[in-house]
Amino acid sequence: MQTRMVQVDFEPIGRRISCAAGTDLLTAARQAGISLIAICGGKGTCGRDRVKVLEGEVSPLSDTERRALHAQADEGMRLACQTLVYSDAKVHVPASSLTAKQRTQVEGESVAFALDPITRAVEIALSDPSLTDLRSDALRLRDHLRERSGIEATYDFQILRQLSDRLRSESWHLRAAVHGEEVVALQEKSRPILGLAVDLGTTKVAGYLVNLENGRTLASEGVMNPQISYGEDVMARIAYALEGPEQADT
Ligand code: FES
Repeated sequence: MQTRMVQVDFEPIGRRISCAAGTDLLTAARQAGISLIAICGGKGTCGRDRVKVLEGEVSPLSDTERRALHAQADEGMRLACQTLVYSDAKVHVPASSLTAKQRTQVEGESVAFALDPITRAVEIALSDPSLTDLRSDALRLRDHLRERSGIEATYDFQILRQLSDRLRSESWHLRAAVHGEEVVALQEKSRPILGLAVDLGTTKVAGYLVNLENGRTLASEGVMNPQISYGEDVMARIAYALEGPEQADT
C-alpha cells in the first residue's frame, strides 16, 4: 500500500515539509530542520514542545497532553510529540518551544603550561643526492631524522608518494610533522604545524585551531550539539536511540 503524504507548514518559521500521514509533529519538525525543545525525548512528560495547530486534521488531545499542558490545553496548545498529523496542516511554533539559538562560549581562561604536543615539527635540511650517495630519498630522510632528532621514522603512504617531488621543489629544505615516530605531513619551512582540538559536549561542540609550536589558539568556534532536539540529557537521547534502528541512526 502506498504511503499517503501530507504537507505541514510551520509558522512563523516558514518551513514546509512533506511527511507520511500519521507522523507526529515533533518528528515532522525535525525533518523540517526545526529544533524543538524535547527534554523527555518525546515521551509527553516535559511539556516543552508546545505548538498550536492552526489548520488541518490531527489526532485528538490525549490525557498525557492534558496533564502536561494544564490550562493551555483548552487554548488549543498541543504537544508536538503527541500530535499525529493526518492531513495538510498549518502549525504555529512559539519561540518558547524552540531550542534557543544560543551563543556558545568557547573562550576560557589561559593558563601557562609546558608545551608537549604529540605531533611536532622537525626541520629537514638534506644535501643534494650525488654519485657518492645513492640512497633513496626516503632512506636519506630517515637517516637524517635519526641523526638530528633521534627519530626512527616511518612514513604514511601518502607521504612516500609526494616525498621526492616535495624535497626537490623545496630545494631539500622542508618541515616534517612527526606524530610519535611517523611522518604525517611535509610542509614549507614558513608554515606552522597546526592541530585541531574538539570538545564534544552534550550541550555544545567546540573546535579550537591551535598552533602546536607555541600553543596559541588561532581560531575557535562552537555550535549547539544538534542531538539536543532528541533530549537535553544523555539518558533521554539514549532512550530515543533505543526506540529502533531508524532512531539510532539519527
Ligand atoms: S513532551 Fe517532552 S518532547 Fe514532547
